[in-house]
Amino acid sequence: EGNKTPYETIGKEQLDKLIDLFYSKVGNHPELKPVFPADLSETARKQKQFMSQYLGGPPLYTSEHGHPMLRARHMPFEITPARAEAWLLCMREAMDEIELTGEIRDFFYHRLVLTAQHMVNTPDNDA
Ligand code: HEM
Repeated sequence: EGNKTPYETIGKEQLDKLIDLFYSKVGNHPELKPVFPADLSETARKQKQFMSQYLGGPPLYTSEHGHPMLRARHMPFEITPARAEAWLLCMREAMDEIELTGEIRDFFYHRLVLTAQHMVNTPDNDA
């Protein structure tokens, strides 16, 4: 029990549900929609692979795509502080909807805040 990875604690089913919900919100968010592809199915598939290894589960992303180099892979997109906030808002809403609560949510969300901040590569327009 104490040796469970975050991936095991959340479970594949919940994680997949979270990511699908998350991208349905991203696709409807006015700040995020313009930077993402119209069809988010492949993006969601890659994110499921990535989140698996991010949370201590099987290294599915690396097996298929190599080292994540996340910041480099985000460089083609203008990631502003406002977009990072919007990304995190979609994630909080998705977490609320699947009822991911408690320590595991706090742990996971906090890591996402740090990673999202690290992805920022462009200042806000009117900053
Ligand atoms: C891919 C935006 C944060 C993980 C992408 C793509 C965009 C994007 C536009 C390309 C989608 C595609 O072509 O399919 C953003 C924005 C963020 C953000 C605006 C706000 C900070 C994050 C965070 C993580 C993450 C925090 C991980 C914790 C990924 C992964 C991919 C991806 C794994 C797929 C990379 C690949 O093509 O192999 N993101 N992202 N992103 N993002 Fe983000």
